[in-house]
Amino acid sequence: MNGSTESTLRPMAESEYAAWVAAAIPDYAADKVTSGQWSAEASLELSWKEHDALLPQGMATPDNHFFTILDARSAPVGMLWFAVQTRFNARIAYVYDVGVRPERQREGHALRAFAALEDEVRKLGLAGIALHVFGHNTGARALYARLGYQPTNISLYKQLETVESGSQ
Ligand SMILES: CC(C)(COP(=O)(O)OP(=O)(O)OC[C@H]1O[C@@H](n2cnc3c(N)ncnc32)[C@H](O)[C@@H]1OP(=O)(O)O)[C@@H](O)C(=O)NCCC(=O)NCCS
Repeated sequence: MNGSTESTLRPMAESEYAAWVAAAIPDYAADKVTSGQWSAEASLELSWKEHDALLPQGMATPDNHFFTILDARSAPVGMLWFAVQTRFNARIAYVYDVGVRPERQREGHALRAFAALEDEVRKLGLAGIALHVFGHNTGARALYARLGYQPTNISLYKQLETVESGSQ
């Protein structure tokens, strides 16, 4: 694993941002459907609305930082997006998305990216890093546990068996 953090994250290019948006909208919609929060029919439109609200000026939206994750040979292997926000009574970095290409996962790129992110966040004078992870995303949860992230809110849901209208 490459220990250098300077070469791990570079500002994202416009073309990379466009490719990310095209994939992120359906990916986020699918996660919301899997987690039981949105219906499949409404999910794409809702995903577009949330992204538009968060990024009204695309990657130029103030306080939002987009990076491409590079491997040791400076080849792109993933992306990371965070926004500077006030949470936990402090100015922090909120990670909205991180992803490593499927064929390059489990090579330590996310670990290196988060180490580089910590450097970036310190440079900005921010107090910490926060993020949300879906309960079904066991891989990401294992990553964050290993990185020392602690749960702050845990949402629980139990699907109840419904009585069919015809059987009453
Ligand atoms: C989550 C994700 C970013 C991890 O990226 P990665 O580069 O593969 O992660 P790393 O190789 O740095 O993994 C570091 C450690 O995290 C844990 N981990 C990562 N992915 C895991 C998985 N799928 N299952 C179990 N543990 C996992 C392991 O402890 C791993 O160390 P190991 O490989 O030595 O066992 C990647 O799987 C991904 O892009 N997933 C799809 C998008 C996503 O879910 N993003 C997170 C949104 S919150």
